[in-house]
Order: sequence, then structure tokens, then C-alpha cells
Amino acid sequence: MEFKGRDVISINDFSTAEIEHILKIAKEMVPIAQGKKKSNLLDGYILSTVFFEPSTRTRLSFESAMNRLGGRVIDFGDVKKTSVKKGETLADTIKMMSSYSDVIVLRHSSEGAARMASEFSDRPVLNGGDGTGQHPTQTMLDLFTIKDKLGAIKNRHIVFVGDLKYGRTAHSLAYALSKFGAKLTFVSPQSLAMPKEIIQALKKEGTAIDKTQDLQKAVETADVLYVTRIQKERFPDPAEYRKVSGVYKITDKLLENAKKMMIVMHPLPRVDEISPEVDCTEHAVYFEQAFNGVPVRMALLALVLGKRR
Ligand code: CP
Repeated sequence: MEFKGRDVISINDFSTAEIEHILKIAKEMVPIAQGKKKSNLLDGYILSTVFFEPSTRTRLSFESAMNRLGGRVIDFGDVKKTSVKKGETLADTIKMMSSYSDVIVLRHSSEGAARMASEFSDRPVLNGGDGTGQHPTQTMLDLFTIKDKLGAIKNRHIVFVGDLKYGRTAHSLAYALSKFGAKLTFVSPQSLAMPKEIIQALKKEGTAIDKTQDLQKAVETADVLYVTRIQKERFPDPAEYRKVSGVYKITDKLLENAKKMMIVMHPLPRVDEISPEVDCTEHAVYFEQAFNGVPVRMALLALVLGKRR
């Protein structure tokens, strides 16, 4: 298992043993992420954050992770105030950032951008979300949360609800859960269904898959309800967005017949798909899930920089 110098582009580039190892290191990082223990593990290292799309959790949890480990962060900032505005290409931008830092996290609106960036960078590139493609570090924190809360992933029933067509968090997580032997149910409007090529790949792995529009019924047998936002910004036609906006809403009433241990997850941000009253139920873990981004990203930074094995 070699992590030093490695890019993190797609969850499919990692074996289950490698993912388990990352999650084990992440668990050790929790007291440092909480500020209860100090560390200088990444003293002298610089992370650059290059975000072409908005972000709160991914950018700031990477920043927190690097700071908690004694490293430093340089932020590309508002793209409009950079030389991208003068026409500089992504390839040249990444070449520059890789000469200014030791590791890069990139978020971009185009699927495949992180893979391309990794070809122009001498330093590891971590995909912080590439359009409707993948969000592998989110997937790792999602898996960490499921394991932490439910103890195991194998044979767990995960119900995905919302935008499964454009939702990169759902795409990466479905691939990973399939490797770990979970059962998957997809709940979405027809126009936002999980892409066919992903379903085919999951079935090829032997994954049990169900599709339904009956959210109430799916919730009753779920171990995890993974809710996603319907992403207005991904719709080419605003009229199509209006047709599906608000179609599923998670309320405490909907959860009345859920298993006691069932957890509600969401990569966040949410808009109106989870009612605030759900936050007070024992099912809601989405804010804890977002915190888990810090120890998981600490583990990834330490591993790709060769400071942990
Ligand atoms: N979950 C996630 O990617 O959140 P941000 O868009 O705020 O980074």
C-alpha cells in the first residue's frame, strides 16, 4: 500500500483495503481535529486550495486539517481576481500552483478536470469535486461516518434520495458502497435518476440495487438515508429545475417508522430537503458527518505527503 505522492481523483482508484487504512488513520486524527491534541506532523508543508466553484465544507475542512497538523495553506481565492480572467489555462494554473505548494486540492465545474490537473502537477492533486463526476474525499468521510455510527458497511441498506443524476457525492459513494457489499436503493424523480452507466457498473460488481419513487416505504428498511440537494446550478433549463424542486422533503413524520438506529446523512449544503425539526432527532448525523471531513482530510494529507504510512 503506497500513498506517498499519490493523487486522489476517483474513489475507484482505491481498494477497500486502502480505504480502510485511510479511515483507520482518520480515527487516530480525531483528537487533533477536535483541538484536544497538538501536532506538527505537516510543519513546513503548504497546501494550495484551488476552487473554481463555491464551497464551505471542502475548502475549509482541508484548511482546518492542514492547520491542525502544523502546515500552511495558500488559497487561490476568487477566480475572477486571478489570471484565469486573462485567459490562463487550467494546465498552466496547476503547473504554477504545484511549484508554490506541496499538495493541491482542486474543485472544478468540469468532470475530468482533476484527472487532467494531476497530469500537469508534480505534486499530489486531491479532487475536491469535478462537476457531476466524483467527490472522493467526501466519500471517504461518508464511509467514516457510516462505520462510526453503524459499525460496519457490509449488508447495510443505504437509501439515496434526491438528485442522483448530477450529484457527484452520490456517484462516488454508490461506487464505494458497492465495493463494501452494501445494498442500495435509489429514490429520485425520473429526470434525476442515477446514470445508467453507473447502475450497470454497480450491477457488474454484484450489488443489490432497487429503484423506487416511494420514499416512505424505502425509509422503513433503511440503515442510512443519504439525502442530496437538487442542484439548481446544474440544470441547463430552469423550467426543468422548477418541475422537481422540493419533490422530496425529509420531515420527522416521514421518519416515524424508520429503524431506531437509522441515520440521516447529507453532504450539505441543504436548502429545504431536510426540515430543521429533523436536526433534533437521533437520526440526524449530517453536522457530525461534515466535521468528519477534518480528520479524514488530515489522514489523506499526511498519507500523500508521506508523513504517515
Ligand atoms: N459537501 C460539500 O462538498 O460541501 P461544500 O460544497 O460546502 O464544499
